[in-house]
Amino acid sequence: MDRNGDTLPPYYVSGLPDSYYVRLFPRQSVHLFHSSYCLHWRSQVPEGLEGKREVYLNGENMYIAKNTPPSVVKLFQEQFRKDFSLFLRLRHEELAFDGQMVLTFLGRKDEDVYSGDLNHLFGLLSQSLQSLVVEGLVEEEKVSSFNLPAYGPSVGEVTALVKESGAFEIAHIKLFEQNWDP
Ligand SMILES: C[S@@+](CC[C@H](N)C(=O)[O-])C[C@H]1O[C@@H](n2cnc3c(N)ncnc32)[C@H](O)[C@@H]1O
Repeated sequence: MDRNGDTLPPYYVSGLPDSYYVRLFPRQSVHLFHSSYCLHWRSQVPEGLEGKREVYLNGENMYIAKNTPPSVVKLFQEQFRKDFSLFLRLRHEELAFDGQMVLTFLGRKDEDVYSGDLNHLFGLLSQSLQSLVVEGLVEEEKVSSFNLPAYGPSVGEVTALVKESGAFEIAHIKLFEQNWDP
């Protein structure tokens, strides 16, 4: 019961030990999904960036930075497209008729793929790793071959993919800004 003594609808919370990029729940069994601060993580390092020959394509960066070539940006975007479409398809199978999802994740304010909080944050982290290389504490090759399985999409990119999926209607989409100043 809530504070006023009214009976609340029964609910069951479930925790499952697997990736959300696979089927997790029985068909049409879930009424409400909430994903909190997870969906900026990809299922893998962008396909095409993880191969041995391509490892240095993104220089010392671990994410999209000012000197990341457009071809590499495309790989990050393509991985997001595949993953997010898959996520929508899987959850659509699991949602009950009239079910809903609330998804909260990191993205970017502007359409410009080179400017966003994640670019800034991971840029600082790349610089930190680079300074460890300069000090001889980390091998350069390890930093050059490291790319993050992450992507922070714009509202426009998310909206486009949801529409493309044909499985969901967006009832509400909102961007909110976080203060990174510690
Ligand atoms: C920032 S935490 C958010 C945790 C929690 N949901 C919250 O809001 O406080 C991101 C979580 O996503 C998990 N994660 C990343 N990729 C995942 C995947 N493919 N399947 C399941 N969990 C994943 C990570 O292990 C991490 O625990």
